Amino acid sequence: MNKGFFISFEGTDGCGKSTQIKLLAEYLKSKGREVVISREPGGSPVGEKIREILLNADNVEISSMCELFLFEAARAQHMDQIVMPALNEGKIVILDRFIDSSIAYQGFGRQLGVECVETFNHYAIGGRYPDVTLMLELSPETAFVRKGGNDVKDRMEMTGNDFFKRVGEGLSFAAEKYSDRIICVNVEGTCQETHARICEIIDKAIGE
Ligand code: TYD
Repeated sequence: MNKGFFISFEGTDGCGKSTQIKLLAEYLKSKGREVVISREPGGSPVGEKIREILLNADNVEISSMCELFLFEAARAQHMDQIVMPALNEGKIVILDRFIDSSIAYQGFGRQLGVECVETFNHYAIGGRYPDVTLMLELSPETAFVRKGGNDVKDRMEMTGNDFFKRVGEGLSFAAEKYSDRIICVNVEGTCQETHARICEIIDKAIGE
């Protein structure tokens, strides 16, 4: 049986994360691998309910620590119910956002600090870190243009520019601190160029 392989994707809004995840999954399936795509917050039935609480723009009163615990609660359930069983069955799991989003958004954005978030991340995932994390990098200007700029905002998107500036710093911090696991991919080029680069990275990481 194949060995399970765990990939997470991170990056700012508008960087084409979900498109790249789909393309990578198709590529890996075409090579005969079983692939599970999932997302955070969410992924499990309970996690999707927690996602609704976290993103609902009406829940303005959620405190920063409550927010962190909700992300981690959804994550713990996701690992237990979806991610670990799939990995144990030899599948490739690809996640749209994972622990590094908590470092960036809660650690830096909400200013809860790296140490605090690292600790809860570690417990929530039971010590099973991704084999590779792809951090998609795009300038804020290009991201804004690609995103269209004026869609309806969820609760996380209702925060100000300072918050997003700190999130950006958090992502860079994570890329540097966890450089044994995180590979940065510049996505300013075409979708196909980025896809080719990602396939190359993953083939190498899986050892094919
Ligand atoms: P979603 O629409 O899934 O993300 P995307 O921006 O990739 O389309 O919304 C998830 C939001 O939750 C996003 O703003 C990032 C945020 N988030 C955290 O703040 N902490 C976390 O640990 C995770 C996984 C996400």
